[in-house]
Amino acid sequence: MNKHKLPKAGTCELAPSILSADFANLASEIAQVTALGIRVIHLDVMDGHFVPNITFGPPAVKWIRKCTDAVLDTHLMITNPEKYAPEFIKAGSDHITFHIETVENPADFIKVLRDQGVTVGVTLNPETPVETIENVASLCDMVLVMTVHPGFGGQSFIDEAAQKCIRVREIVGRDIRIEVDGGIDMETIATARDYGADTFVAGNAIFGKENRSQAVSQLQTALRQ
Ligand code: DX5
Ligand code: ZN
Repeated sequence: MNKHKLPKAGTCELAPSILSADFANLASEIAQVTALGIRVIHLDVMDGHFVPNITFGPPAVKWIRKCTDAVLDTHLMITNPEKYAPEFIKAGSDHITFHIETVENPADFIKVLRDQGVTVGVTLNPETPVETIENVASLCDMVLVMTVHPGFGGQSFIDEAAQKCIRVREIVGRDIRIEVDGGIDMETIATARDYGADTFVAGNAIFGKENRSQAVSQLQTALRQ
């Protein structure tokens, strides 16, 4: 059972994505943002198959786990997450998010994940309709609304995709987190919040900046407005 738990819904959380961090200095990159009060670190796992890019697997998560007490929010952009999720959980992932498009029986998979002690998120790609998650969203702790086409950091926020948060919020109520991922910056973060998101992945807008303290505080200020 993992001891680092996703904060209960009701707070706004920034989840810096290490995709834009310096992989040769990950421990200090992560320490920089957790020292600023960040509680969730977003790990983008890509397999070169579900998305046209490759990142890292369970061995990297194992080492990341050793260097932080932050919640490891693991975003599986992979085909066959049922096969690989247990490896990520063993390595120290606290939260697993999978893409609805990749699993035949999502309700069963959610139960399998929960039984392994993690919280669970289900993801919608920009072109995937909200109806596809309607029956399973309430079984999850989080719905992740992709606000770019998954695969790369540094892309532009797709407003129409973010608007799906409005419908997702109607479906899930207040107790389940809605995370947005892609193109979140000082301009777009409040828009996403207004649509109903409460968890904000930011790669380029945090690890892409020299001054992480300024980057985090600018995003937090934008959220307060
Ligand atoms: C995109 C990833 C994102 C990405 C976000 O496929 O899922 O988490 O790192 O990066 P930014 O914030 O740079 O758009
Ligand atoms: Zn992501």
